Amino acid sequence: MKYLPRILAVVAVAVLCIVVHDAVATEPLLRVETKKKSVTKQPDSKKSKIDKGRYLTEIGGCNDCHTDGFMMNNGTTPDAERLLGSAMGFKGPWGVTYPLNLRLLAANMTEDEWVTYTRTTKGAPPMPWWVLHSMEEDHLRAIHAYLMYLGPKGEPAPSPIPPGEPITTPYIPFEPVFPTK
Ligand code: HEC
Repeated sequence: MKYLPRILAVVAVAVLCIVVHDAVATEPLLRVETKKKSVTKQPDSKKSKIDKGRYLTEIGGCNDCHTDGFMMNNGTTPDAERLLGSAMGFKGPWGVTYPLNLRLLAANMTEDEWVTYTRTTKGAPPMPWWVLHSMEEDHLRAIHAYLMYLGPKGEPAPSPIPPGEPITTPYIPFEPVFPTK
């Protein structure tokens, strides 16, 4: 019986340890849980769809051709001036083509029409239209949402010029050149 107080003391310490350990272990988990919940509250808000569209046009390289001067200023063109097309043509065996004003183009279509159009279009070079065919539907929808957010602005790009016709705009020759020995 004389050991009883000691045994009780040991049990009390053990219980205390378990309680403290649990509190320390579960507290951060609880915090993560709460954080997770607040993030998933707005899963696909309009803003995140627009941001996604902006992101996709950047990594998809669309601005490189469809935004005048984008390559020259290292991609720093402000949103307001993006994707307005270009009057700088690309000249090749196909004639001369001009990157379209995507903001005017998108404004003429509903989101569904945009999806059908981009899934089936086969523009002239150097438009990499197969990239649009491979895109997931929600990516195409996000790009449309971004273009609508930017809004219609600017002029339509010049009409393409067939091979051999006079060229009245500046252009970039897009033809392979093989060195002669
Ligand atoms: C290398 C330059 C280049 C890049 C990169 C590029 N485009 Fe184009 N794009 C063009 C040109 C030039 C045209 C006009 C083609 C024509 O006259 O048939 C065009 C036309 C289009 C059209 C009209 C339909 C068609 O097939 O011609 C759409 C839509 C389009 N581009 C969207 C995009 C999107 C979205 C991206 C990014 C994923 C992109 N483009 C990347 C040059 C480019």
